[in-house]
Amino acid sequence: MSESVGKIHEVVKWPEPVLAKRGEEVTVFDAKLKTLVEEMFESMYAAQGIGLAAPQINISQRITVIDCSFKKNPDDKVVLINPEIIDRRGKQVEEEGCLSLPEIREKVSRAGWVKVRAQDVNGNPIEVEGEELLARAMQHEIDHLDGILFIDRLSRLKRDLVIRKIKKLQKNGEW
Ligand code: NI
Repeated sequence: MSESVGKIHEVVKWPEPVLAKRGEEVTVFDAKLKTLVEEMFESMYAAQGIGLAAPQINISQRITVIDCSFKKNPDDKVVLINPEIIDRRGKQVEEEGCLSLPEIREKVSRAGWVKVRAQDVNGNPIEVEGEELLARAMQHEIDHLDGILFIDRLSRLKRDLVIRKIKKLQKNGEW
């Protein structure tokens, strides 16, 4: 098997409007979609991330890729197309980051376990269950498909502080 190197897409940052939009449902499961999914993995690895949603590369569609092992375990590669959370249990509060919000890390409350119904690259229905980091990653990425960033899950005060920090970074040309 040869290792293909596809296009590396640039990750867009807050406040790019695409990040606040609900992504379109995927209806065509063709070779183009498979290529895009591979490119999403490569773009995610290039940006040192463990999750990436299509809106983050300016494609407003309900596609996300996750690899909590960051290339160490191929079985950990998750592709979720048109995903929805169908069950959730418990609670976890951990620090989160996002490739669209570089340098920002804040504690976010999430369900401890989730079950997700989605489609694979061929359009077949799949269900993925996860706890801890995988549960967190799936909730974070599915949020992206609904136009929600993790800073939108913070208290008003915390969110305002984060936005102030970003504006400062922008002003200094560091964003
Ligand atoms: Ni993110």
